[in-house]
Amino acid sequence: MEIKELHFEEIDSTSSFIKRNWTSLPPFAFVSSSFQKEGRGRNDRKWLSEKGSSLLFSLLIKDHPLLNYGPFLSLPSAVSISKFLEKEGVEGVSIKWPNDIYIHGKKVAGILLEGSLPDYLIIGIGINLNQPSFEGEYRRPPTSIFLETGKKVDVSSFKDGLFQAIMETFLKEDMKECCLSYFKTHDFLLGKRGYQGKDKKEGTFLGVDKDFNLLFKLGNEILTLSSGEVSAIEII
Ligand code: BTN
Repeated sequence: MEIKELHFEEIDSTSSFIKRNWTSLPPFAFVSSSFQKEGRGRNDRKWLSEKGSSLLFSLLIKDHPLLNYGPFLSLPSAVSISKFLEKEGVEGVSIKWPNDIYIHGKKVAGILLEGSLPDYLIIGIGINLNQPSFEGEYRRPPTSIFLETGKKVDVSSFKDGLFQAIMETFLKEDMKECCLSYFKTHDFLLGKRGYQGKDKKEGTFLGVDKDFNLLFKLGNEILTLSSGEVSAIEII
């Protein structure tokens, strides 16, 4: 199977590049950049990072049965990153449903899923590797691997290792079961309290169902939320 890798020193956004060029790329293409001038996060937020201090890349998937999983693919993406961090000796790693990676409760990586199903999907990933500090206001406190471990990361070998880990996870025969069972032991929200809706009703996060929908207990009711409804509940 052909897997293409492209790297830029500077680009507007690796995900925007794929959006413009997906028809001419092979079914799996990793596009990375040392710097993004217009990096994008979820909910129209910007994704800012210092040149060379982060791993910024997007993976295109097209013409492949994996597309049938749709937004569920944020799970194997998050699991690949979390497992790889643990393999590299990072402690305190968890996944905040549906697509943030935390170290000791601070965000180290984010995932942005875009595309047009059934044609193609773009999985955009930003991981803070060596950034020594973060300026500005953030909804969740950010961190980097350097800040958490005191060790500088070799961006290029981290990238090679992670790309391989992602392909292995995605192409596993039992990908779904395997990722769900890993997630259950690394679920940042599990057991935490949250608010739902404008009137801020309080409830408890109960984990996820077999399709990676979030379960939230509100009084006697259990709400099931899809990844598109992530902003419906806030953590207390
Ligand atoms: C989030 O909001 O947590 C998701 C952030 C995703 C950022 C990555 S960096 C590489 C790719 N290109 C972008 O413009 N965004 C994604």
